[in-house]
Order: sequence, then structure tokens, then C-alpha cells
Amino acid sequence: MLRAAGPGPSIVVCSTCRLSADQREDADGVRGGALLAKALRAAQAASPALAHIEVQDMACLFACQRHCTVHIRAPGRIGYVLGDFAPDADAAAAILEYARLHAESEDGVVRYGDWPAGVKGHFIVRTPPEGFTVT
Ligand code: FES
Repeated sequence: MLRAAGPGPSIVVCSTCRLSADQREDADGVRGGALLAKALRAAQAASPALAHIEVQDMACLFACQRHCTVHIRAPGRIGYVLGDFAPDADAAAAILEYARLHAESEDGVVRYGDWPAGVKGHFIVRTPPEGFTVT
């Protein structure tokens, strides 16, 4: 069931997510999650400053009542699941920028004033890192 992935900062994209609340796939039959993963990899490839953020994908994060979900994680830091993105370049840029700030933070908390506008309103859940709870 488990598949090994890189240990560092990463964005885990649900590759099977719906395209939107009322549409499963695009006109070519591609799921929104697969499109978002593609957009994230394209944005990352265009920016060397984001090379240390690994884009990983997996089928279903169990947040299926939302669409285009991602899990942002890094060792020793609070993780976050976000969703309801459009699978486009703007969303990819915002998610990657947030992941960069998250990886640079001490504990996974990014100051709200630094959040890219494109992630605001998209948070679903936070998860404490192994060995910690959050105060
Ligand atoms: S299909 Fe994306 S969270 Fe379940």
C-alpha cells in the first residue's frame, strides 16, 4: 500500500480529484487532480527556488467532498490539507509559494500576512507532525 517518497518538503497532490464541485474531468477525460499535478510540476520546473519542494502524487487524500486537494508537508512541521483549487498556473504558483514558506518556517506556521492570496480560504485540515501536538 505504501510507496516510498522523498523525505523532505513536499506537496502531495491527489491525482484522482474532481475538476470542480460539479465536474469530474475536463473535455479530454482528465481528472482535476492530474491537471493540478501537471500545473504544479510545470511551475516548479520554471523556478529553481522551488526545486527542493517535491511534487508527489497519490490517489485520494480522503477529502473527496472537496476538489483538487493537496497535502503540504515537511519534516517536523505542521502539515496542511487544502482544496477547492482550479487546476491552473495561478493555483500552482500560490501552492508552491506557500509550500516554500512552510518549509522555511520553524514549525510549519506561516505568518498570515505572508500567505499567497491564492491559498486563502482553501485550508481544510492541519495535521501535527509525528511526536508533537499543536498548542
Ligand atoms: S479523490 Fe481527491 S481526495 Fe479523494
